[in-house]
Amino acid sequence: MSFQPIMLDVDTGVDDAAAIAYALGLEADLVAVSTVAGNIHIDLTTGNTLKVLSLLGAEDVPVFRGASRPLIKPFQDAAHIHGGNGLGGATIPDALADEADLTAPEAIIAMAEEFQGDLTFVAAGPLTNLAIALSLRPQIAQQIGKLVLMGGAFFNPGNVTPYAEFNIWADPDAAAQVFATEWNEVIAIGLDVTHQVAITTRMWEAIPEKFSGAAGLMRKIAARTFTERVRSGFFLHDPLAVAVALDESLVTLEPYAVEVVTDGEERGRTIVRDGGNVLIATEVKAEVFLRRFCDALGMPYVQDDAGLDGAE
Ligand code: RIB
Ligand code: CA
Repeated sequence: MSFQPIMLDVDTGVDDAAAIAYALGLEADLVAVSTVAGNIHIDLTTGNTLKVLSLLGAEDVPVFRGASRPLIKPFQDAAHIHGGNGLGGATIPDALADEADLTAPEAIIAMAEEFQGDLTFVAAGPLTNLAIALSLRPQIAQQIGKLVLMGGAFFNPGNVTPYAEFNIWADPDAAAQVFATEWNEVIAIGLDVTHQVAITTRMWEAIPEKFSGAAGLMRKIAARTFTERVRSGFFLHDPLAVAVALDESLVTLEPYAVEVVTDGEERGRTIVRDGGNVLIATEVKAEVFLRRFCDALGMPYVQDDAGLDGAE
């Protein structure tokens, strides 16, 4: 398999941790991870990312701290979903490495310069770092080969408001800048498809408590969702974005132009129009992805037809 460098931008969070585990489980060429404030405070998203990489034996992957707040809007977290520490309240061992010296925007620029069209960039949090990097070095849009972003609710309701998905809502001004940019290739993985893929209660219960590694990590960080919040599932938003970055055949992609509402009641709404180059995922091979996810993390796959109405 040829070298295919991938960089993740995360606000680690539970599904961000799962996305990192999925990338490592597939032995993807993860060259860098940048962190952004989103699900939780930047200190925690950065610390959680360092801990997860170390726990999974990837402490050599450099982590670059990014924006502590959105471009314009005030910072608002999603701790009610991800727990006060961003990892469902779970305690995992201390990191074995420190964060790298460059800031996230500087690292994005450096990786784009080094890897050019070979680089795939997966944005799994608010798009603040990417927007700042674009402002500093606009040519990264022509350098980065493929941008895959988890964000948006294009043909379905949002998860923060009826209009908006969290990553876009959290920093709509950054998202507007990213969607208005001409990328070599840009794929948007929105709630339209991520709300079809989740770890369900039965899948979580099927992970033996004694399991370590990625499966043990998932059991720990998803526990709060199933035991305290008593939800029926935890959506695998960010792992699906990584999966599509590595295999676009998992989804159906349709090209649109995307406009972002930046203020007012519909803040964070992603409005689609014909005639653009943003490839929006409209369908997903959910079971194929879930089997791959469980296999990559060493989790038993459990066929579960329980609905996802109670998931989050
Ligand atoms: O709306 C879901 C997205 O917002 C995911 O990336 C989750 O981690 C949060 O960042
Ligand atoms: Ca995220």
